[in-house]
Amino acid sequence: MKPNLLSGIQPTGRLHLGNYLGALDNFVKLQNSGRYNCFFFIADLHSLTEDFKPKDKSKQILSLLADYLAAGLNPKKSTIFIQSHIPANSELAWILNTITPFGELSRMTQFKDKSKDQASNINIGLFSYPILMTADVILYDANFVPVGEDQIQHLELSRTLTRKFNKRFGKTFIEPQPLLTEVPRLMSLNNPDKKMSKSQPQGCIFVDDSPATIKKKIMTATTDSGIEVKYDLKKKAGISNLITIYAALSEKNIKGVEKEFKGENYSVFKKSLANLINQHFSDHRKKKKQLLASPSKLKRITNQGDKKANKIANAKINKVKDQLGLL
Ligand code: ADP
Ligand code: TRP
Repeated sequence: MKPNLLSGIQPTGRLHLGNYLGALDNFVKLQNSGRYNCFFFIADLHSLTEDFKPKDKSKQILSLLADYLAAGLNPKKSTIFIQSHIPANSELAWILNTITPFGELSRMTQFKDKSKDQASNINIGLFSYPILMTADVILYDANFVPVGEDQIQHLELSRTLTRKFNKRFGKTFIEPQPLLTEVPRLMSLNNPDKKMSKSQPQGCIFVDDSPATIKKKIMTATTDSGIEVKYDLKKKAGISNLITIYAALSEKNIKGVEKEFKGENYSVFKKSLANLINQHFSDHRKKKKQLLASPSKLKRITNQGDKKANKIANAKINKVKDQLGLL
């Protein structure tokens, strides 16, 4: 039997290049490798931990779903579903709450960072976020979880909780392993010491930014006073980040990109990069627009995925309740 592979993204706004290169693009490649039994979902319950307006939420969910499909996730090959449509997810999260030490959660970097970013809304969901994430993963016996580097700490906790549960209540869950891409941590365009994140929109390329916006963001991206298009993370963090993007989208290696732009200045390189990004996403944008024009079709896709996911999740949660001695 093929190993299970599962991942999700929060519908919190617009998908950016960090999400794409760190996660979604890899989801598609892993799906198409045919080596895994794939599950991809929309982490809508997680997204409630950030400020939002209810009238925007359903749009954000459909937009992310359209991004999934436009990028190449295929409901014939993968189970694509919505987290909040799977009641067993939340049930398991509660059960896992009861075996999670408070101290372990307090160490989570994302919780500390987000508590700073949204100081007026430090809710308990933000704190228990990795517990729900663990439930998402182990409910489906996921062997592999493709994510960006910022999620590794959460998955470490998932592994710890899995071991603890299995030891205390009998072998029930599989310990999940993270899978990183070639670009596990894309940096911000205007602050290459920080990761690209939607909380810093200026340093962020959104997949559906217009070609003019993308060009402007790339042309004004922070570089250094040098002239050589050369990868050097210590001395040339900005240009190295741009080389990383170019390499990932053109499926070349770093050396190949350096060679291609040998003797050219930053401006020539940046123009080519902006063109490459625009070309890469022009098809994606068109497909996304078409998909969003028929929301009922999108809903049919997730209805199908929800059904498959619920079947697996319900069987597992019943087993868990048995193990716990619940009637
Ligand atoms: P954000 O960090 O913008 O809030 P999410 O937390 O929803 O985005 O992340 C969705 C996926 O994208 C996760 O797997 C995460 O690790 C990955 N990701 C987010 N930002 C980056 C980045 N700058 N580089 C690589 N991967 C990233
Ligand atoms: N925590 C992930 C993020 O912030 C999203 C997510 C929720 C997830 N549940 C998951 C990713 C399960 C992988 C597996 O991006």
